[in-house]
Amino acid sequence: MCLKIFCSASSPRMVSLLINLSSENKFSQWWPELIRSALYPPESEVLPLLIENIFSSLSLQGKTLLDAGFGEGRFARLARELGAVVEGCDIDRGLVELVAGEFDTIECSLTSLTWSDEVFDIVLCSDVLMYIDDVNLAISELARVLVPGGKCIVGMVHPCFSDWAPDRPAPVDAARHYPLHEERYWIFELDKGRKIRVKQYHRPLHFYLNLLSRFFILDQVFERGALNLEDHADREKYNPVEYIFFQLSRR
Ligand SMILES: C[S@@+](CC[C@H](N)C(=O)[O-])C[C@H]1O[C@@H](n2cnc3c(N)ncnc32)[C@H](O)[C@@H]1O
Repeated sequence: MCLKIFCSASSPRMVSLLINLSSENKFSQWWPELIRSALYPPESEVLPLLIENIFSSLSLQGKTLLDAGFGEGRFARLARELGAVVEGCDIDRGLVELVAGEFDTIECSLTSLTWSDEVFDIVLCSDVLMYIDDVNLAISELARVLVPGGKCIVGMVHPCFSDWAPDRPAPVDAARHYPLHEERYWIFELDKGRKIRVKQYHRPLHFYLNLLSRFFILDQVFERGALNLEDHADREKYNPVEYIFFQLSRR
């Protein structure tokens, strides 16, 4: 198995690479495969540990929890095992069908959640906001469906993660690069040369903090520590992604 990840703004080299790629933002075509095959150990091993720690500190027993953009359902499943009453939504019908029968799901966008106001004790939104154009609306929707004082867990690839732009050498470029609002692309090369292109939006850390603070009070920030891949048999294949999580309370 081989996974290489690149991300890019609009350099000529990467623009030419984007030609003839097969898929864009249809997560059902590659995300479950990525997760289930553990193609990406830094994420598949560490991110669930982080989420589990956050869940444990919130004590989920009997709480209503929305997993907004649940993907292949790994964290919704975990929340249910920890006693939460779980519902999920995702924009990708293929993923809604994939988890059918496991927990209640609705096919809808974070920008127009179908639930009425103040129905969930907890909302989880892991690794989703950076794929959404109207992020202001999405965050206001997450707040709307939470009860006052309810908890919101928002996670994303760290906006200051240097490999947001591997085609532009860090750290020389970093100071210029991190503050930008830019459209970027992850390009995944899966087995057998299968290439996936995923559009996302890089936004600076201060943008997210300022926006979240309109709706929420910040309880805690989690930044994943450096990974020790020294002992990993396939360490040459991986390009670890750094995550940041916010634990928030609805105002
Ligand atoms: C990288 S996956 C993360 C999945 C899951 N939250 C996790 O951490 O394992 C991003 C997910 O967000 C979903 N998504 C993207 N845009 C969305 C939107 N506007 N509304 C709802 N879900 C969306 C995708 O379909 C995909 O399932």
